[in-house]
Amino acid sequence: MSTILVAGSMNIDIVTKVNRHPLPGETIHGMETSLFPGGKGANQAVAAARLGASVCMVGAVGNDLFGNEIKRILSDDGIDLTHVKEKNSTTGMALITIDQTGENNIILSQGANGLITKEDISRVSYDRFDAILLQNEIPWEANAFVLEKAQHHQVKTVFNPAPALAISKDYLSLIDILILNEHEATEMTQYKCDTKEDIVRSVQFLIDCGVKEVIITLGKKGSFYMNNKQKVYSTAALQVPVVDTTAAGDTFIGAFIAKYMSGHSVEKSLDYASVAAAISVTIEGAQNSIPNVDKVNNFMQ
Ligand code: ADP
Ligand code: NA
Repeated sequence: MSTILVAGSMNIDIVTKVNRHPLPGETIHGMETSLFPGGKGANQAVAAARLGASVCMVGAVGNDLFGNEIKRILSDDGIDLTHVKEKNSTTGMALITIDQTGENNIILSQGANGLITKEDISRVSYDRFDAILLQNEIPWEANAFVLEKAQHHQVKTVFNPAPALAISKDYLSLIDILILNEHEATEMTQYKCDTKEDIVRSVQFLIDCGVKEVIITLGKKGSFYMNNKQKVYSTAALQVPVVDTTAAGDTFIGAFIAKYMSGHSVEKSLDYASVAAAISVTIEGAQNSIPNVDKVNNFMQ
């Protein structure tokens, strides 16, 4: 079993179905409202935990109604929350309205996620993990601190630059495995990812910056892997009935890391991630659509 530290965001998603989105200044009636746990950090932690890893989460929630609820949900998946801080603020929150055509309006409030400091994460025993997984939904200073700690303790780093932002080459060279979707790849490298040649050029750019292994996920076109020794591997996405692709990427990342860090080959780990992500798109929602080991194994038989 691999032991993974996830340093990242924890959100509550408040989703209301509406006939149509309100105009500025207008009050409308929503049809039904649901609360869901979310945040890329929490989603990827849940995916890794359900798919076989021992997971510890570093992050922050607010001292509002939602903080304890999120912690309760994550602890149900066996995630170690010792290093989740409670901030004197609101919990990270996404206010989402979905109209009858399925179009979303989303307001993201960083809340406690934006208040994570170096001090909050300085007491973690970084050397006890096989890998550290990061995204881009907490302050960059916190990520940079974790990357430096990982380098100091020679722990593998896995970075999902979502949302994409330009990071300095100094930090890219501290990243062992970069996992990003085609849009994030284009933002980071300025290369389009429309053709195989485009994708290879984009990945080569990232490898030239010092990243050791790069995976670009391509939605229903699958994924592409290349490392700094020019080894290449592609997966095709499974043909499944698509219900909701939310958290497909998070599922893919958590599944891949859980497998790869426990010693499986890159090919086996990517194939496994591709099955787990395909299952997640057949089910509505984010965290609740992430399968566990039994579900993936049944699907693979
Ligand atoms: P993100 O959610 O970050 O945008 P992608 O859309 O690239 O990520 O999806 C991640 C992975 O999920 C893909 O590489 C693929 O394996 C799987 N996946 C995504 N969409 C589908 C789909 N429609 N059918 C089957 N698998 C899918
Ligand atoms: Na889903």
